Amino acid sequence: MRKLIILLCISAHTGQSYCQLIRPNVIYESVIKGVHDYYNNTCIILLHATEDPIESQEESENLQRLQAYLSKAYIRTAVMQISTFIDRVGGSYYHIKRPLFVLLNDDDDVRNQFAFEIAPWIDMSYPNWLVFLRPETSIEGFFDKIYVQFDCTMMVSQPDGNLESPGEIITEVYQIDRGEKLRTGLFATWSRETGIKLPRWSLYQRRSDLQGHLFRVMSIEDPPQSMIRRDDNGQVTGLGGFFGGLMDLLQESMNCTLVYLETNEWGYLRGNGTWTGAVGSLIDNTSDIVAAELIMTRDRVDAIKFTTPVYSTKIRTYIKRPSLSALKWGAYFIPFEPSVWVAIVVMIVITTATISLVNSAISLFARQWKDNDDCPTNVPDIFFAVFGVFCSQGMSASILDPIRISHFVIHLTGVIILAAYSAALISALAVKTFVLPFTTMDGLLKDNTYRFGVVRDSADYSFFQNTTDEILGVLFDKLLVKEKELPNNYLEGLSLVCNEDKYAFMTVDNAVTQLQSEVGCVLVPLDTISQTSIAFGLRPGSPYRGILDSHLLLLRDSGVMQRLLNSHWAMTGDNVEGGWESVEIGDILPLAVMLLTGIFMGFMILSIEKLVKRNAKIIKKEKKIVKKFLKNAKFLSGQLNHVKKSNK
Ligand SMILES: *[C@@H]1O[C@H](CO)[C@@H](O)[C@H](O)[C@H]1NC(C)=O
Ligand SMILES: *[C@@H]1O[C@H](CO)[C@@H](O)[C@H](O)[C@H]1NC(C)=O
Ligand SMILES: *[C@@H]1O[C@H](CO)[C@@H](O)[C@H](O)[C@H]1NC(C)=O
Ligand SMILES: *[C@@H]1O[C@H](CO)[C@@H](O)[C@H](O)[C@H]1NC(C)=O
Ligand SMILES: *[C@@H]1O[C@H](CO)[C@@H](O)[C@H](O)[C@H]1NC(C)=O
Repeated sequence: MRKLIILLCISAHTGQSYCQLIRPNVIYESVIKGVHDYYNNTCIILLHATEDPIESQEESENLQRLQAYLSKAYIRTAVMQISTFIDRVGGSYYHIKRPLFVLLNDDDDVRNQFAFEIAPWIDMSYPNWLVFLRPETSIEGFFDKIYVQFDCTMMVSQPDGNLESPGEIITEVYQIDRGEKLRTGLFATWSRETGIKLPRWSLYQRRSDLQGHLFRVMSIEDPPQSMIRRDDNGQVTGLGGFFGGLMDLLQESMNCTLVYLETNEWGYLRGNGTWTGAVGSLIDNTSDIVAAELIMTRDRVDAIKFTTPVYSTKIRTYIKRPSLSALKWGAYFIPFEPSVWVAIVVMIVITTATISLVNSAISLFARQWKDNDDCPTNVPDIFFAVFGVFCSQGMSASILDPIRISHFVIHLTGVIILAAYSAALISALAVKTFVLPFTTMDGLLKDNTYRFGVVRDSADYSFFQNTTDEILGVLFDKLLVKEKELPNNYLEGLSLVCNEDKYAFMTVDNAVTQLQSEVGCVLVPLDTISQTSIAFGLRPGSPYRGILDSHLLLLRDSGVMQRLLNSHWAMTGDNVEGGWESVEIGDILPLAVMLLTGIFMGFMILSIEKLVKRNAKIIKKEKKIVKKFLKNAKFLSGQLNHVKKSNK
């Protein structure tokens, strides 16, 4: 059908002279090659209208020569009629990497086919375009019916009117928005003498000005990343926070106008394929940019455009830190490994043995050198004294050199061990570990006493809704659907974690870093669920991604973005908070228990000893009495015997 129309057009044309190539071959060759080298295209497609059967002989020779020239420079080149291009390449032009499409002339045929058959369906910004116009054709006239969107690289080559040595002026054309005036800028010049002169600036350095183009910026109240500013009547007037600051910088550097809108949902995909919230507003054309902490997710990337990531963060679930820290019963043994303890005991035994040996050797062979009386001489006493040294107790000095050397060695060892032990013990006590009821999402599910929430209608919510992870799926079905009132933003969610008993909330790391100081409790994370990036959202077909990206990258490379982030992210993390960590009573509980047990045991032993001693005294007394009694009895019996004898 289409071919038939084209055939009809040709037959209408036969009256006038009709040629495909409107420039000498040398101009085509060097201009096309120059543009190709600038854009590093992998493939060039030369488009022309249907060939005129009468003049086709010379025409096709010239075309072949052009193609041969480019092929010799290792550039893949194809010559195609526009109708063939539509039929053959059609929707699969995306398979060609960085193509350069060249319109060889500006015939009405070419213009009409381009305006009505190619421009409406092709993504104009995907390829680079080069159009050769006759001197008498005006650029505005040629592009009258064509929307050259802002990110389209459309180059137009026209003769420069110099009669002596004809050159070419290559202009780029674009429109800031549909229906707006066509803007032109010099791209390059060509002359026979100097060849092609290409631009020094990059695309968005050349088109950095949006001339006051209006952007409708959608945002969400989500302190501190984006905070809506209002006037007295509650009307939205601006945006604060990190995204507000970034938008202000972008507005200044892109020379655009911003109006702010507000929604209270990030947006998720409904069952019937429509989007809600901020993402939905981009799709429904009620806003142009979403400036809020918009997480890049797969289904969102399919539905809208994202700029280059502004920052990346991790998704995690947070719970309130338990109020009690773990009781470390083993804290007093932690400083040393078991082998060190064994070594200490062995050391005590060896030194005891050495001192005892020296003692006994001296008492055997050199009585005159006998030690002074203060020093213990029997083995248990020596053992106890050496043990005392390791507990930093003193020990009476010996006058014997071998024993003094032993004493010196054990004192030195004792000092070193004590210092090492104290240091390790202090650090072990100062670091508090809190026992979390669980550390994974699986644990959260098994625990079954916690409630679980995410921000309403957010990426986090759809993340759960459409997850392939079994645990997260069950979590959604069992816990999340039960929540009637999901929080609107991260601050609300984290406040719930602090104020409710047993509430777990999924959020991004940096939100917690910033909001930790605002909520009344310490939040602890469970294991990371996934890594994610935050970026601006744009309308699906938005031509402004390139310019936003280039400005964002500029802000990032210059460090301005980091500065902005730091000033809005008051770094008040757990460890950055500073100040002293106090050691709580719980931390020294083991010691206190040991002390009390010791006192109790000592008291018990003392009592038992006393009891035993008193009993012993009583028994002694009783024995004495018995003895006395026996003595008396003996005496009496003696007397009695004596009396008996004398009576006899
Ligand atoms: C083309 O390649 C050159 C060298 O590899 C590079 O310097 C230039 O930036 C590239 N141009 C574009 C538009 O990518
Ligand atoms: C910004 O855009 C306005 C049009 O809204 C224009 O008049 C002005 O010259 C532009 N400013 C700069 C610095 O280009
Ligand atoms: C999709 O569903 C929502 C409510 O669930 C409804 O408001 C909307 O009109 C539906 N859209 C389409 C295209 O069916
Ligand atoms: C989007 O909305 C704006 C303002 O209402 C309008 O000017 C523009 O043409 C719309 N764009 C599309 C693609 O419908
Ligand atoms: C879930 O994901 C699948 C494929 O990834 C998609 O086809 C489907 O529409 C998604 N459903 C919802 C409710 O997001």
